[in-house]
Parts: sequence; structure tokens; C-alpha cells
Amino acid sequence: MDYLVIEGSRPLNGTVEISASKNAALPMIMAAILSENEVIFSNLPRLTDVDFAIRILVELGGKVSMNREGDHLTAKIKFPDSASFVAPYELVRKMRASISVLGPLLARFGKAKVSLPGGCAIGSRPVDLHIMVMEKLGAKVTVEEGYIFAEAEKLKGTEIVFPFVSVGATQAAIMTAAMAEGVSVIRNVSMEPETVELGKMLNDMGAKIDGLGTETLTIHGVNKRTLPGPKSPISVIPDRIEAGTFAVAAAATRGRVEVKNAVAEHIEILLYNLRESGVIVENTKDGFIVDARHLKKIKPVDIITSPYPGFPTDLQAQWMAYMSIADGTSTISEKIFENRFIHIGELFRLGARIKYSGNKATVQGVERLKGAPVMATDLRASASLVIGGLIAEGTTEIHRVYHIDRGYERIDQKLTALGAKIVRNRE
Ligand code: UD1
Repeated sequence: MDYLVIEGSRPLNGTVEISASKNAALPMIMAAILSENEVIFSNLPRLTDVDFAIRILVELGGKVSMNREGDHLTAKIKFPDSASFVAPYELVRKMRASISVLGPLLARFGKAKVSLPGGCAIGSRPVDLHIMVMEKLGAKVTVEEGYIFAEAEKLKGTEIVFPFVSVGATQAAIMTAAMAEGVSVIRNVSMEPETVELGKMLNDMGAKIDGLGTETLTIHGVNKRTLPGPKSPISVIPDRIEAGTFAVAAAATRGRVEVKNAVAEHIEILLYNLRESGVIVENTKDGFIVDARHLKKIKPVDIITSPYPGFPTDLQAQWMAYMSIADGTSTISEKIFENRFIHIGELFRLGARIKYSGNKATVQGVERLKGAPVMATDLRASASLVIGGLIAEGTTEIHRVYHIDRGYERIDQKLTALGAKIVRNRE
């Protein structure tokens, strides 16, 4: 198993190019199930989660050819009528996002059998809203022996009001309602850029989805098993969480990093908070620059995670690593997931002073962190440990980095190019 060794306390300097978004790519790959014709992706990120998603389609019977072009992966996907509607446990267990095959398989085949998903161990992460979506659209759903089985002669447009925002359940609703008969009005939906991109892709494929990026979607279902398919190759948006992680790492190490191929607007709240902490952030034509070279004292800034455009839960752990060396006390409230503070125990090992109760952490900034062996427990927690290691004096070893490889493309190489001392070893 690979582990990373970081010699910390060195500022990051230079330019980093952000990869295509993992969270945008995953549901878009699954949406290829709904296409009658071939779907071409021009820039998938090279990540293990993307491999899982592709593997699911292949195992179901999809025809996929992949090519490496420079840093990108291109993929051609054709999902035939002869494919299976059963996504077994061995495929689904590794990644929660696998649940997003449920709606497309149901719409395409009139039935779907999908194992309850696995993925990052953050909170209980139920799938009740996904099931609610399928039932509202007219499916009969049973959960038995670890599988969700959904069946519908015909999917029917309906009104759905989510009790709270769920990215995955909104995406399930979009993909399924797009194929139903009649109009669906869906309220309190995810406005995340990744959801907007999925909706745009479906519209390009022939769906009729209005209201993307707002709280209410109106979908005129096409009443068919497939959509014609995209008119041109699909390009996936830059990963805002990767961009945000590099931005925080630049600030925390008091460096200057130009983040290219990023959309500043997608992480406006993070960049605002970085400015509040004393960092200079400047927008450029294809990203932004974070400059913290002048920063003697980091001003503590409180954050509360919430759905887009609020502070992303996927940047909470990284922000905590940054605040652990702030000049004073800050609070971090996690409002999306229960139990998303597992990184605190590992940040402790680096000398951070953090107390928490329930979903609120209080971070008492310390002068410096000290390197130590730590263990990555989930994807974003690992990113916070990398930032911790970059800040810390001495050597930090981060074990179980397979978590980080799920969602950060070549993170060690990108950091090395910015002047970090980071090597990947095998134990
Ligand atoms: C997606 C992202 C993940 C991000 C999260 C929140 C992908 C592949 N993953 O995950 O990186 O952290 O959004 O921005 O895009 N919930 C239920 N019942 C459900 C579904 C969700 O109670 O059926 C709860 C969850 O437990 C959580 C909250 O809703 O407390 C939000 O989760 P959700 O937005 O659905 O997250 P994911 O789509 O799984």
C-alpha cells in the first residue's frame, strides 16, 4: 500500500493546473446509460473513482474505449439494450456514487437492481431520498438482502419537494424524471455546479430540464427509454474541490500559487474566507492567484458548511488544517454530514488543538504543527492531512493514501512541481 512522506514547512510557489471534476464526471458517466448513441468524454480525470464508474458500466454490458491524451483520459461509451439492469455488490460497494446508476437503469429497462452503496465512511449516509424519488416517479421499490430493487411499467412526472438538499438525490431525480411521461416539478434541489453540468449534458442529449442552478427544476419528461445522445464530445468542468484544496495549501504554507483551469465563482465562499484570513486572492482569466507570502498571522475565520453556494463540506477538513495554525480561535460547524470530523484525531497527532462536540469544532490555533505518522481515513480527510504535513516542521508520513487517489489526480506530482518535498513510497 502506498504512503506519502512529506518534509514540511516549505512554502508552495508556482502554477498548478486543475483536473476535471470527479464529482461532475461520476454522474455524467452514469448518464451515458440513457443515451441511444455513443457518448464521448474529452477530459475525464485520472482517478480511481472514475475507474470504478467506468468499470460499473463495463460490467453491466456497456462498451467503453478509453485513451490517454496528455494528462486527460478520453472515453467513448455505448450502452446497449442488451446490458444488464443489475449492479452487484462487488461493483457498488467501493463507491457511494454508484447509487446514481439506479435511476438511469430504471428508466432504460423499466427495472433496476442495485446494491446498497459503500464509499467514504462519513456518517450513516442513507439512500432514503433516492428511494423516495423513484417511488414518487411511480416505481415500486423494495430493499432486500442489501439490494434496492425498483420497477416501473411507466415512470410518471410528479412534484417532489426535498426535505433538505441532497446532491445525489437531486441528480437521481433529474436523470429519471427526464425520461418519464409528463412534467415534474422538483423543489429544494442541489444548485451545485456538478448538478448543473449533469443537467446541461442531459439537455444536450435531448432532455428538457429548466431551472438548472436554481432551487426549482421543471422537467418535461420525454417518455422514452433513451435520449438521442450528445451532439458533441462532453468536456467536464474543473474540479472546484481540488482548486480549493490547492488554494488552502498555498495560504497555509504562506506561498503564492497560481491556480489555472479553475472557476473562481465555483468556490467564491472559500476565496472570500481566504481573503478574510489575510490572504490576497486575485482572479485571473482562467483561475486565480493565492498570495500569502506577506502573511505573518493568519486571522481565524469561522465557517459553517452548507449546500452550494455555501461553504462546501468537501473543503471543511482542509480549512480545519489551515485554522490549526491561525492566530486565535475559530469554529467549524459541519451541517451536511454527521461524523465528518474523523480527521481531528489525526490532526491532533500533528499537534493541532481542536475540541469538538457534535457537529461543531473549536480550533485553537497553535504556532506550528510537528510532523508525525498519520492515517488517511477518507478522501477529504486525507487532503487535510496533506496540508497538515506541508505546514508541519519535520516529517509527516500519511498512510492509506489510496483514499486520496480516489479524488486527487497526481497530487504528489502537482505538489512537487510547487516546491513541496513529498515522495510516494510503498510499504
Ligand atoms: C455529494 C458529493 C460529496 C459531497 C456531498 C455534499 C459526489 C459523488 N459526492 O455526495 O463529495 O460531500 O455531495 O456536498 O458528488 N442524505 C440522506 N438521504 C439520502 C441522500 C442523502 O439523508 O437519500 C443525506 C446525507 O447523509 C447527507 C446529506 O443528505 O447528510 C447530503 O448528502 P448528499 O448531498 O446526498 O451527498 P452525496 O450526493 O452522497
